[in-house]
Amino acid sequence: MADLTTEFCGVRFKNPVVVASLETTNSPDLMKQAFDYGAAGAIIKTLTDIDDMAVLTMNSKYCIMDDRGDIIRGKVPRDFKFYSRSGYSSTYYKDWIPDLKEIGAYARDRDAHLIGSAGARDIDGWKDICRIFEDCGLPMVELNFGCPHPAMMPGVHGGSMIGQVADVAHEVTRQVCEAVGIPVMIKLTPDQTTPVEIAKAVKEAGAAAVTATNRYTGFAVDIETGQPRLGGPAGIGGTWTKPLTLRYIHNIYRDVGIPIAGSNGIFDHRDVVEFLMTGSDIVEVGSVLMIKGMKWLPNIIDGLERFMDGHGYPDLESMRGIATKASVQDYSDQFRKARIHAAVNHDTCQNPTCNICVQMCFYEALSQNPAGSIDVHPDTCIGCELCLDVCPFDSISMEPTTEQQMAEGYFRIPDGVYEKPGKFATRRNNMETIRLNSAGLAAE
Ligand SMILES: Cc1cc2nc3c(=O)[nH]c(=O)nc-3n(C[C@H](O)[C@H](O)[C@H](O)COP(=O)(O)O)c2cc1C
Ligand code: SF4
Ligand code: SF4
Repeated sequence: MADLTTEFCGVRFKNPVVVASLETTNSPDLMKQAFDYGAAGAIIKTLTDIDDMAVLTMNSKYCIMDDRGDIIRGKVPRDFKFYSRSGYSSTYYKDWIPDLKEIGAYARDRDAHLIGSAGARDIDGWKDICRIFEDCGLPMVELNFGCPHPAMMPGVHGGSMIGQVADVAHEVTRQVCEAVGIPVMIKLTPDQTTPVEIAKAVKEAGAAAVTATNRYTGFAVDIETGQPRLGGPAGIGGTWTKPLTLRYIHNIYRDVGIPIAGSNGIFDHRDVVEFLMTGSDIVEVGSVLMIKGMKWLPNIIDGLERFMDGHGYPDLESMRGIATKASVQDYSDQFRKARIHAAVNHDTCQNPTCNICVQMCFYEALSQNPAGSIDVHPDTCIGCELCLDVCPFDSISMEPTTEQQMAEGYFRIPDGVYEKPGKFATRRNNMETIRLNSAGLAAE
């Protein structure tokens, strides 16, 4: 059986599945449930000294939308959008102290961890909340630099407003890291263009790990009434965010070299595998547990173990980051990959009744001949694979283009176009050549 244990920030986890900080960790009973259902950790709903963020949670609103943007009533499918507005824990952080001690012990008895989460008004508040976590025996703390809601509350500063400014993120991280002895992880916001820079800044300031990421800020419309859903902008997540999150994890894993907790877009174990293969050390699961209940956790954990056994991965390390390591560094590496071209199986092709691929080939590499069958023109087929995807009758395959076929005139990227000194210094996209070829620009 696969070994699901892992070490993260010097702490041993019995599996990589941790319950994220949200409503599912907003009470002692819920956190105990998380541990009973096998979670290796649970991050408490962010504790705060910001009154407005505590009160906001008492006015929480949630709606779940389908792929069309309609509200889902009843069973929630894999492809959902969770649109919601809520703040931090409504219980004052100091009032949590007895429970923190008790739930921490409850977790330890089950070989699991209660993890802190802080979101404060000022630097003293950040330090005070984190010291309380440490004093209560928690093994690590997450700083919430990712919450989308403070930015919508005049006079409130926090969450993504900190996670969007490297200097501020660095300073808060540095001061908290100096104030406590437990590992500090920083929850990043996806609402920004420079997550790698923020990850580098907080690493430099002493952070032990980053969480990538909290949720986006969104806007949704009820087209029947013309009104914004939930009254206006709110936090948005769901499985659709997964590729966007993975892009951030890919970049951070490759360019920063800091342990990563992956969050934002997990539904089941298949998503966890993608997060791990991209470079996550552990994952934080959130909204799906609000929708399916804590009993969903064993599906994720057992599913991960089955997947690893079925695919011959003995442990998490054998999966970690493998997709990122196999990824091209940039598009010029992509261009060097072996060429392929389309081939049509005329036995199963339904032309002339069907001609979808002809309409979808944007390189004029497919045509319908007068005899009523599809011709492939390999001299213009660039091997983009779109026809393969749109054919409803599985009648297209992609074949490797041999050197001899290229010599015979099959499509090839002209030598030198993409490989001038400086990877992308080409005739087509070099600003210098564009300027030279454009009278208007040259005159400026
Ligand atoms: C209703 C709701 C409340 C949340 N509250 C918090 C919070 O208090 N602190 C925090 O760090 N993240 C909070 N989050 C973000 C989650 O912890 C998690 O990072 C995010 O939902 C992405 O993971 P998911 O796709 O598994 O939901 C909240 C998310 C939701 C949906
Ligand atoms: S692979 Fe792309 S270019 Fe080639 S025939 Fe299909 S759609 Fe056209
Ligand atoms: S889409 Fe498929 S079935 Fe239709 S014409 Fe093209 S190859 Fe034939």
